Amino acid sequence: MNIQKSILTSGFLLFLIIVLMSCKQEGKYQAFTPGELWLDNNNVHINAHGGGILYDNGTYYWFGEHKTEGENGNLANVGVHCYSSKDLYNWTDEGIALSVIEADSTHDIAKGCILERPKVIHNKKTKKYIMYFHLEPKGQGYEGARSGIAISDKATGPYSYIRSVRPNAGHWPFNAPEILTKGPVRVEGAIFTGGSLSAPADSLNILGRDMQGGQMARDMTLFVDDDGTAYHIYSSEENSTLHIAQLTEDYLDYADKYARFFPDRFMEAPAIFKKDEKYYLMASGCTGWAPNEARSAVAKSIWGPWTELGNPCIGIDADLTFHSQSTYILPIQGKNSQFIYMGDRWTPNDAIDGRYIWLPIKFEGDKFTIEWKDSWILNDL
Ligand code: GAL
Repeated sequence: MNIQKSILTSGFLLFLIIVLMSCKQEGKYQAFTPGELWLDNNNVHINAHGGGILYDNGTYYWFGEHKTEGENGNLANVGVHCYSSKDLYNWTDEGIALSVIEADSTHDIAKGCILERPKVIHNKKTKKYIMYFHLEPKGQGYEGARSGIAISDKATGPYSYIRSVRPNAGHWPFNAPEILTKGPVRVEGAIFTGGSLSAPADSLNILGRDMQGGQMARDMTLFVDDDGTAYHIYSSEENSTLHIAQLTEDYLDYADKYARFFPDRFMEAPAIFKKDEKYYLMASGCTGWAPNEARSAVAKSIWGPWTELGNPCIGIDADLTFHSQSTYILPIQGKNSQFIYMGDRWTPNDAIDGRYIWLPIKFEGDKFTIEWKDSWILNDL
């Protein structure tokens, strides 16, 4: 009896040890600590800035700008970095998903171009993974305002670069006011001054100026709706106005259906999510790498009308989005109303040191709010 008892006890102890060991192996992080260094499986600070997340087959994939040390660290010297995770706290380095081209300095994505805010979506019909990003060909500053498109058979890549475009060439947005479609183009000289124009966007008619050649597309995100329709949301018209453009069924082109919103609001860093049949938008103002006050908006249809809800951040440093700029709002899989704000705390003098600000999203009636937390866990959502 005693022998049986001690066998049972040691069996139980062994079981306990195995359980405890497997818990320990789960990963080094068991909480989010916004603004701190965030080490990957190789103990290197995650290098995926201006990023977005794809959930695919039980795994989260984080894609972002790979920054480099020292001067010019914000240029695309390497490409788009990918990490994977099952628990969102611990990330495995999956390497460079899309590499810049070193051999040809005239290539669209030549080493030293500007390649920002990459986002990846999965096309269930074609089974392809499609990446869009803001592209500025090398040596042209931010004049290009183009969308780059790349494709892969695997989530982690490698992605093959397809082409870059100025979206929606030859098409008016379906909600364009007549003063733009019929009115004159009145753009004097260089007008982009970062955050303002020499006159209201509509009176300059930047939309009309770019109608034939395609619309400017800088800060951006992608959104796939429940019915599989994908949208590209980008800052356009010299950053003054946000465009939402439907993509074709294969996600590789524009479906020639798009609309413009928030003229003259200079919304950047757009992030979109859907909850209870409503669409929510978060964006920043337009002050380069320096943080500013965020905005939010809600709509019953992605095509609007969009109603602005003001700054979603509350508490200390809410007016500077807790020293960050939005990049993505992540829906937690299997949870209807759990979302994470993902922002970048840019460090332009040492871009590779930029920090990630992930915070829980809370809902108050029709609004969502974000509050600072030094440390938090998914159960806090
Ligand atoms: C920000 C933008 C970033 C980057 C930066 C360059 O406004 O959100 O993605 O383009 O300007 O100054």
